[in-house]
Amino acid sequence: MARGSSATRYPAVTRTLHWLVGLIVIATIPIGVIMQQQGIARSTQDLLFILHKNGGVLILLLVMLRIGWRVATPAPALPLSVPDWQASVAKLVQWTLYALLLIMAVSGYIRVRAGGFPIEALDAMGISTFVPRSDALAETAKSIHATARYPLVALILLHIGAALKHLVARDGVFGHIWPPLGR
Ligand code: HEM
Ligand code: HEM
Repeated sequence: MARGSSATRYPAVTRTLHWLVGLIVIATIPIGVIMQQQGIARSTQDLLFILHKNGGVLILLLVMLRIGWRVATPAPALPLSVPDWQASVAKLVQWTLYALLLIMAVSGYIRVRAGGFPIEALDAMGISTFVPRSDALAETAKSIHATARYPLVALILLHIGAALKHLVARDGVFGHIWPPLGR
């Protein structure tokens, strides 16, 4: 099976985008849950909503950039110690992660815009809405947003678990995305 290029690491742009998107996503998920809890101060809630919505739009832009960059540049090959089935699962998980991030960000955007709510950073730049005002559309997007988080969180945990396994095994795979470590 073709495993990828002979490079020992992803290009610097891929690595930077990986950790930037990873950090923002890992912050955005708990913020999305906490911002809806009863009993938190209104000012805190408003701030969390602003961070979540605008952070989510930033994720959308960075993931689109990342997919484009990923398609245009070669990926390092997994070592032969990784069985074919694991290499296939890793590829499937990575592309499903991209798809779920797009689904989350687009459904969040539609939920908010169809509901008639602001997205502060876009509003400040004068970028108006791309979707019509519609309660039915907002509700559909809301349930997609609430449901897709489960497979997203499950795959992130699986991905982190596999990454740590490679870090401990010192097989070079962790070094693909963080060269100083895992060699
Ligand atoms: C929300 C968080 C994360 C997402 C969405 C994510 C997604 C991805 C994707 C899509 C790739 C494939 C490379 C690419 O196409 O850019 C990848 C590679 C990688 N990620 Fe993550 N990642 C996340 C967090 C993490 C964390 C926290 C770790 C470490 C504990 C990690 C370790 C790795 C490693 C080692 C690779 C290289 C795997 C290989 O060469 O096949 N990732 N990640
Ligand atoms: C990849 C990006 C995103 C992730 C991972 C994410 C994650 C989440 C999670 C886990 C929740 C809690 C779900 C629940 O309790 O039902 C949530 C809720 C929410 N998210 Fe996101 N989100 C993202 C992007 C966005 C974007 C771009 C917007 C809007 C511009 C947005 C707007 C909302 C809103 C308004 C809620 C509250 C629930 C509702 O009323 O629909 N999200 N998000």
